[in-house]
Amino acid sequence: MIPALEPATELHAPAMAAIHQAAFPPGEVWSAAVLGLHAGLPGGFGFIDPRGGLVLARTIMDESEILTIGVLPQARRLGLGTRLLRAAMDQALARDARTMFLEVAEPNSAARALYTSLGFTDVGRRKRYYSNGDDALVMRVALA
Ligand SMILES: CC(C)(COP(=O)(O)OP(=O)(O)OC[C@H]1O[C@@H](n2cnc3c(N)ncnc32)[C@H](O)[C@@H]1OP(=O)(O)O)[C@@H](O)C(=O)NCCC(=O)NCCS
Repeated sequence: MIPALEPATELHAPAMAAIHQAAFPPGEVWSAAVLGLHAGLPGGFGFIDPRGGLVLARTIMDESEILTIGVLPQARRLGLGTRLLRAAMDQALARDARTMFLEVAEPNSAARALYTSLGFTDVGRRKRYYSNGDDALVMRVALA
């Protein structure tokens, strides 16, 4: 049976940190403190897939932003990322957001393919946004 997604709160910070550490390269890992802080931001929300995935997002007025999303390497290509992103999009809509944005490193073809599959399109570029010199692409989807 596929386990239900769990809402992510500050109390889940250690569990989220374990997933984040395994899902991201060393320089991009968020600590439990940072993850807990983001989960507790005004307008912040997120979900954990007990099989090994997380998403955090934030909604301000009618705009929402994906703050981070990651899936354990051994749990990839099983639809976890899609389920987490869909859940975040649905939750943002329920909170009256009408658009959702995210930033993604240009070479991150896996993440870009996931986002494109759920309707996100490129709307901007931040030159040399990441510490390794990669550009960030800004992607957007209309939620309603
Ligand atoms: C990006 C990430 C969250 C995707 O999670 P996932 O659970 O593997 O995604 P899904 O299984 O839902 O994949 C959905 C679709 O995205 C695309 N996709 C995902 N991974 C891909 C890959 N490595 N190569 C090409 N397409 C890929 C495919 O279209 C896939 O559908 P398919 O498997 O039916 O072909 C995961 O690769 C990850 O955690 N990466 C490291 C962290 C990261 O880069 N986060 C995003 C930062 S912006």
